[in-house]
Amino acid sequence: MLKNRLLGLLTVMLLFLGAGCRYDMQDQPRYEPYEKSDFFNDGRASRDLPEGTVARGFLREDKAFYTGKKEGVTNVQVQTTTDASGNTVVTTFPDAVEEFPIPVTEELINRGQERYNIYCSVCHGPTGNGDGMIVRRGFTKPPTYHDDRLRNAPVGHFYDVITNGWGRMNGYAAQIPVADRWAIVAYIRALQIKQNPNGVKPLVAESSKKAAETLQDKPESSDKNTSQVKTELAKNQKGGVR
Ligand code: HEC
Repeated sequence: MLKNRLLGLLTVMLLFLGAGCRYDMQDQPRYEPYEKSDFFNDGRASRDLPEGTVARGFLREDKAFYTGKKEGVTNVQVQTTTDASGNTVVTTFPDAVEEFPIPVTEELINRGQERYNIYCSVCHGPTGNGDGMIVRRGFTKPPTYHDDRLRNAPVGHFYDVITNGWGRMNGYAAQIPVADRWAIVAYIRALQIKQNPNGVKPLVAESSKKAAETLQDKPESSDKNTSQVKTELAKNQKGGVR
């Protein structure tokens, strides 16, 4: 009994002793963010990051994938004109990549269709004619995807438009992750082929033409056509079906 009491007393004493030595972490000698410093010449406690620092998970080495731009093409000047509805028109795309940087599979196109219907169809319309609901209610009409200019535009241009916006259209980088942007581009290509099987700049020339021919044989069954376009696109891509 006495032993227990003594032990209890000792514990309490130790606790007090411990409290006496307490050294709070919040009182440690360190700088607050943006605090002034007398130590550094520029008076700032916050230091610049060493050059080339990359945040974990943000090493974006694959330029084509992350920007849709070609390696080594810099200082690009392109001429733009304005069309009748005030849209910005460009016809040369010197730094946009022409090939998809990831394999185009059926899954990718399906994903693109889903994302397109969520983010783009409200303005560009379900088939890309530029007659979405927002446009019907008065927003600027975007150009159709089915004129020669956009049919011949390289995939990197579409990716760039989604990422950075274009003229009066906002960029969607904040809402749509990189791979999904490519998925949407793949779906736009599918829409273009569907609307004009012969006139689309082939993703991979010859094989896509074959897809278009196959489509023309069966103009009446549109659902089937769509899935055929998808399979053909998937087959013909760099890297093949994966
Ligand atoms: C709020 C309406 C709106 C939404 C949503 C929208 N766009 Fe646009 N888009 C426009 C308008 C308007 C233009 C024409 C802008 C201009 O030229 O000033 C345009 C232009 C474009 C162009 C043509 C660029 C060129 O070279 O002429 C592409 C491609 C495009 N949008 C793709 C997309 C994709 C993909 C999405 C979905 C991720 C999307 N847009 C969502 C309104 C929209």
